[in-house]
Amino acid sequence: MSVQYYCAMSLDGFIAESDDTLEWLTGHEGSYHGADAVPMKGTYDAFYDGVGALVSGSATYEFVINEVTDWPYSGKPCWVLTSRDLPMPEGDGVDIRFAQGSVSELYPEMKAAAGDRNLWVVGGGNVASQFADEGLLDEVIATVVPVVLGTGKPLFDRRLPSGPMRLTGTRAFDTGMVEVRYEIDRSG
Ligand SMILES: NC(=O)c1ccc[n+]([C@@H]2O[C@H](COP(=O)([O-])OP(=O)(O)OC[C@H]3O[C@@H](n4cnc5c(N)ncnc54)[C@H](OP(=O)(O)O)[C@@H]3O)[C@@H](O)[C@H]2O)c1
Repeated sequence: MSVQYYCAMSLDGFIAESDDTLEWLTGHEGSYHGADAVPMKGTYDAFYDGVGALVSGSATYEFVINEVTDWPYSGKPCWVLTSRDLPMPEGDGVDIRFAQGSVSELYPEMKAAAGDRNLWVVGGGNVASQFADEGLLDEVIATVVPVVLGTGKPLFDRRLPSGPMRLTGTRAFDTGMVEVRYEIDRSG
């Protein structure tokens, strides 16, 4: 079981515009025809198959429920960190658990729910930093989109306490996006 921060970011390290819009990502059209190009299609589904539970901040959650008709994570428990009362979508298999406080206190429950699959830290950067601060983040899997936003919501909120990460893989997609995969030394 691994705690994975899996996301897409601009070349300059932002995961969303300041106003939370994602057109730079969802509307991106690019291509890459190098010999090492791999199809991007299907890669999200393959990642998602390995996910046992999810955790996100409330801004990310509100973006999803406002933009998407059906809750996309049915059948998998999803913690939403918030200090507020938020609406919950209806539907079969919706398993949303609103919670607040320290991620290290919530973590044992998330880990148990994930079972032998992974815990997906969906975002945003502040939530990822909370996991990193507590030494609970194992991997950062970022898909780099070749756009420069100049400003926006950062991949992490603050400096990682654990020092440099270890590269465990890269994939150049046929869309021109590149996935970088780094492992964090939890003991660091
Ligand atoms: N590019 C990508 O792959 C990607 C991935 C994820 C997200 N995103 C986007 O990035 C943006 C994320 O925005 P963000 O970083 O500003 O926000 P966020 O992490 O989604 O949400 C932050 C909010 O969550 C609540 N929260 C966080 N930790 C908490 C805790 N321990 N206890 C209680 N409440 C807690 C707080 O709000 P309240 O207490 O007021 O509720 C906080 O202001 C969104 O637009 C999202 O769509 C992009």
